[in-house]
Amino acid sequence: MNFKVLESQRKLTGSYYTPQTIASFISKWIMESSPKKILEPSCGDGVFFSEINNIARTQKSRDVSIHGVDLDQDVIQDLKLRKKKNEFESVALNLVHSDFLEYSIEQTSKNTRFDAVIGNPPFIRYQYLEAEHQRLTEKIFFESNLTFTKHTNAWVPFVIQSIKLLNAGGRLAMVIPTELMHVLHANSLRKYLIDTCQKIAVVHVEDLFSSEVLQGVVLLMCEKKSLSFKGKSQIAFPTASRFDLHNGHVYEFLQTINYKTSENLDYKWTEGLLTPEEKAVYKKAKDCKNTKLFFDIAEVDVGIVTGANDFFLVSDHVVKKYALQKYSKPMFGRSSHVKGVIFSQKDMDENRQQGLPVNFLEFPQINKSLFSKKVQDYISFGESQELHGRYKCRIRSPWYVVPSIWASGVSMLKRAHDLPRLIHNEANSYTTDTAYRIRTKSGIKEDRLVWCFVNSLTALSNELEGRHYGGGVIELVPSEIERLVVPYVDMPKNALKKLDKLYRLKKSAGEILKEQDEIILKNLGLNDKEINILHSAWVRLRNRRQRKD
Ligand SMILES: C[S@@+](CC[C@H](N)C(=O)[O-])C[C@H]1O[C@@H](n2cnc3c(N)ncnc32)[C@H](O)[C@@H]1O
Repeated sequence: MNFKVLESQRKLTGSYYTPQTIASFISKWIMESSPKKILEPSCGDGVFFSEINNIARTQKSRDVSIHGVDLDQDVIQDLKLRKKKNEFESVALNLVHSDFLEYSIEQTSKNTRFDAVIGNPPFIRYQYLEAEHQRLTEKIFFESNLTFTKHTNAWVPFVIQSIKLLNAGGRLAMVIPTELMHVLHANSLRKYLIDTCQKIAVVHVEDLFSSEVLQGVVLLMCEKKSLSFKGKSQIAFPTASRFDLHNGHVYEFLQTINYKTSENLDYKWTEGLLTPEEKAVYKKAKDCKNTKLFFDIAEVDVGIVTGANDFFLVSDHVVKKYALQKYSKPMFGRSSHVKGVIFSQKDMDENRQQGLPVNFLEFPQINKSLFSKKVQDYISFGESQELHGRYKCRIRSPWYVVPSIWASGVSMLKRAHDLPRLIHNEANSYTTDTAYRIRTKSGIKEDRLVWCFVNSLTALSNELEGRHYGGGVIELVPSEIERLVVPYVDMPKNALKKLDKLYRLKKSAGEILKEQDEIILKNLGLNDKEINILHSAWVRLRNRRQRKD
């Protein structure tokens, strides 16, 4: 759980502005439909106004009006000044200082409609929203007959209300987190989009990385159902190349989009990235007798949350200096400290020799004055760094006693570049919250689970369930891990040691999967062709996430 007080202002207002190339790309698409009245629900620095203004000037269309809303008074003031200086001379710009949710509820009740909506809504977790915004969010879900969950995010009601405010046949183009594709909380929004739109394109942009935006984003480009529309809604998940984007080849790009009917889509849209053949094999593999959901074979818990890792995870040098031996417990903290899929006592010793922070400090629940002088000095040193005032430390008493300390037989590092990795924790080490603690359910062997986890079927389900961050790393939260698909088949003798060796030899993820598939997926009952299909689907989705050509 993250806490509001720890987050930056930027994160709390969701203000990550749109790069100009993206703004230009989607503005062109919006303007292609010759809208007269356009809405920008969270206009920020007005990047879309500038683009639309340029297009209107070139098209010599003098009758375009844009309604720009933003909660931030300074943003609106600044835009008003720029408008006065004639910066947006080819459009009629109306600027509204308001909360968009409130504005949208009022406008829908007045039956106001727009020909197009364009924007980049704020990305703010529900838990960080002001109480009034939380109330309005719930009201919007309720009035739209959509299932509400507290896992939702500010961008979701923004999209719902924007669609409502569109005229029939109108276009919406928005920069949206990639999580639109699969997170459970967006399930009702995905259904809403399919119900209300005749065409939906979720465009993945190859090189869209902003150093400040943690989450990956996609471009949602949809057309609301026109009054005469009778058929099934069409959906596509195309990729726009750097070339399309930087040369403004929006129309050429649109020609290449291959829309399909949305009715075969599962509740997640990530499955829409698979070809029908891949989808059929994936389904067959999921239905095999020995294929399990992770949830059925293991439980996932977060790692130890210290609130101050530099203080609680220390090297032998610090232990010696402050005589902390009595309180030190073995630990691994980072992926670089674990070279394979087994974490043994030998690994622990090697990390120790390298001076890595291999000791976790587990202090007992006693008053500081009862510790030895040296230990008291160490705790005082932490206090001189203001660690006791940090949120996660100050909510426990005393601050140096970390809760929920236990080691699990299996760990999973939270983030991965290619493949999430389970680790068999033979050294019984503690792990921090960079890793999850995994406990196998009754009858499930830890080493076998770690071994079975590495195969192209599970790797593909990782891609379908996981979330992406800037830089292309994949991360799974516990509820996503629980939905992973794992073929739980017999493990040959020494197989885990062999797999561990492959990792230590730094074999590529592709090579490792190929070797594992040969045993695991064959054992599951798949043939060579089916195994290759799953493997190449994984390669394609992994490359897409990492934005490799
Ligand atoms: C992601 S920025 C986007 C800015 C601009 N549309 C762009 O694409 O560059 C989000 C903007 O949403 C505004 N905002 C946040 N919450 C809002 C709300 N409830 N109603 C209207 N605007 C809001 C912020 O002030 C910020 O300017």
